[in-house]
Amino acid sequence: MVRITDGCFERLVCFIKANYGMDLANKRVLADSRLASTAASEGYHDLDSYIEDAMSPDNIRLRTQLVNRLTTNHTYFMREAEHFTFMFEKVLPYIESTVTDRDVRIWCAGCSTGQEAYSMSMVIDEYFGAARHRWDTTILATDINTDALITARNGIYPADAVDGLSEERVDRYFTRQPDGSYRINEDIRNSVVFKRFNLMDEIVYKKPFDLISCRNVMIYFSSETKDALVKRLCGCTKAGGYLFTGHAENLSRDCGYEYISPAIFRKPPEC
Ligand SMILES: C[S@@+](CC[C@H](N)C(=O)[O-])C[C@H]1O[C@@H](n2cnc3c(N)ncnc32)[C@H](O)[C@@H]1O
Repeated sequence: MVRITDGCFERLVCFIKANYGMDLANKRVLADSRLASTAASEGYHDLDSYIEDAMSPDNIRLRTQLVNRLTTNHTYFMREAEHFTFMFEKVLPYIESTVTDRDVRIWCAGCSTGQEAYSMSMVIDEYFGAARHRWDTTILATDINTDALITARNGIYPADAVDGLSEERVDRYFTRQPDGSYRINEDIRNSVVFKRFNLMDEIVYKKPFDLISCRNVMIYFSSETKDALVKRLCGCTKAGGYLFTGHAENLSRDCGYEYISPAIFRKPPEC
């Protein structure tokens, strides 16, 4: 398979940045290696032809496949555990004391294969206990990668995916399958609604969010794209609501949120 030519790579970088936010300028080797086998399996003999076809508006299937291949979906249960402790100790008590209609709005933006949203649901379960059913704590979890969303909805993970979880959590929230994999139990699975959503698109929402978790997504964006997205996220966060980011992601001072602690931000409550 011939490698991507300079001109085609430049067009690919512009296309992905303009439509999906990701900055691939320094990811040439990654693009070459990830797309080579996909292009071959689609019957292409050179990468450029595959990429040009996938960028054309007429071929949605190839375009979806291209984006799926270029995203990085690394994630795991209780990743960056400080967020889950903070959620239990601060966010959920705040929600409990302020959300009078019991309709809790939580958005996991860039959820990949689902482990982050399910981790949040476990923490909600541990916090509310038997009283959970009196609250609407459905989590909205979105991603651009349709393959990741299939895995997320199935909620089946290889045995080593639960390695970092306590035995108590594994026993309580998973069922071991005959082949040794683990499936998230139905009540936790049903507490998360997975949808495809491109963070570059307009955010349409019914009610502002109490908590948005957008972690390890913006590291792939340029600082301008990241700043613009954070302002839009702030626009759909409730006053007093929270934003979690990845620990490697910095926000600009005028983003609309105030800094609480590393990777935790809050929209100032209304006075
Ligand atoms: C490294 S994963 C992070 C997963 C999880 N949030 C975590 O911290 O473990 C980054 C995710 O962002 C998603 N992503 C990248 N660009 C996106 C976009 N424009 N809209 C929605 N999701 C996007 C990718 O598909 C990928 O699943």
